[in-house]
Amino acid sequence: MDSSRILVTGGAGFIGSHLVDRFMAMGAAVTVIDDLSNGKRDRVPAGATFHPYDIRSTDAAALVRDGGFHAICHLAAQMDVRRSVSDPFNDASRNILGSLNLLEAVRTGSPSTRLIFSSTGGAVYGDFDAPPSRETFEKNPESPYGIAKLSVEYYIAYYARVHGLDVAALRYANVYGPRQDPHGEAGVVAIFCQRLLSGQSPRIFGDGSQTRDYVYVGDVVEANVRAATGTLPKAGRIDARSFNIGTGVATSVVELAAALQSAAGTALPNEFAPHRPGEQLRSFVSIEKARQELDWSPRTTLADGLEQTFRWFAAHHSV
Ligand SMILES: NC(=O)c1ccc[n+]([C@@H]2O[C@H](COP(=O)([O-])OP(=O)(O)OC[C@H]3O[C@@H](n4cnc5c(N)ncnc54)[C@H](O)[C@@H]3O)[C@@H](O)[C@H]2O)c1
Repeated sequence: MDSSRILVTGGAGFIGSHLVDRFMAMGAAVTVIDDLSNGKRDRVPAGATFHPYDIRSTDAAALVRDGGFHAICHLAAQMDVRRSVSDPFNDASRNILGSLNLLEAVRTGSPSTRLIFSSTGGAVYGDFDAPPSRETFEKNPESPYGIAKLSVEYYIAYYARVHGLDVAALRYANVYGPRQDPHGEAGVVAIFCQRLLSGQSPRIFGDGSQTRDYVYVGDVVEANVRAATGTLPKAGRIDARSFNIGTGVATSVVELAAALQSAAGTALPNEFAPHRPGEQLRSFVSIEKARQELDWSPRTTLADGLEQTFRWFAAHHSV
C-alpha cells in the first residue's frame, strides 16, 4: 500500500505529533487536523499541512472526502478518562460523533482510504478476566471514555462488514514518552518526572502494587505505520480488526517509580497516599495478535524509554 498521502487527526497532540514526524521522515505528504483543544500548533512540523478543524465539522468531512488520502490515522480525541466521567457528553461528542463524521466521509467520498482508529487497551476490558487481556476478552469499560472507544470499534466492524471499508483499530496500552500529558492514560510517568525534577518524591496511591502496561510512544508510532501501510485482516467481526499495542509486561507503580528514579539518578523515598476508589488493579495486554498479523513488536525497553522521557522533561522543565 502507498503511504504517500497521509492524514493524521490529532497530529498536534502527544502521540499524533510523533507519528507526523515519522511519516514526514518517510517522505510522505502529511496533512494534520487538530482543533488544538489539547494539542500544540508548534509540534506540527513546517512541512506538514495543518488545518485547525474540529473532527465533527463539515470542513473535516470535506477534507477527508476530497483529500485523496491513502490512509488516515485517527488519533484526535478527548483522551482524559476522568474528564469523560465528569463530562460524558463532551467525551461522546468528540470521541463517537467525531469519529463517525470521518467514517461517513470515507464511506461517501473516499471508500478506498484506509482508516486506523486509536482505541484503548487500558479502558475497554475492565477488571473481570485475568490479564494479559486478549482482543477477544469480554469488554466491560469502566468509564464513558472506554465506552466511546468501544462504540467506535463497533462502527469500524460495521463499516468493514457492511460497506467493505478498509479500517482497523489499535488498542494502545499506557503510552508514555517525550511530550506526554499528565492527564493521559500513562500520566503517572509525566507526573513522576515533574515531581523528581522539583525535588519531590514520587507520590503513590495505595500500596503501589497496581499494574499497568507502559508502551513507549515510538513503538506506538511504528504500530500505526505498519497498520497504515501493511496488510490488514479482511474480516468484519468486532475484535478481528483490532490489535492490542502494548508490551505484554505488567509493571507496578512501585517498580515504575524505581525505574524512573534510576533513569533520573535520584533515590528519594516514595510517598504513599490513600488508594483511589475505582482504580483498576491490574491491566496489561497480550500483543501476540499484533506480532503475528502486523509483524509488529515493541523495541524500546522500559529503562530506555523512561530515560528518554525523563531527559525530555528535564530539558523542558521550568522551575
Ligand atoms: N496516551 C495514552 O496513553 C493513550 C492510551 C490509549 C489510547 N490513546 C488514544 O490515542 C490518541 C492520542 O492520544 P494522546 O495521548 O496523544 O492525546 P492528546 O490529547 O495529546 O492528542 C489528541 C489530540 O486531539 C485533538 N483533538 C481533541 N478533540 C478534537 C476534535 N474534536 N477535533 C480535532 N482535534 C481534536 C487535541 O487537540 C489533541 O492534540 C487518542 O485517541 C487517545 O484516546 C492514548
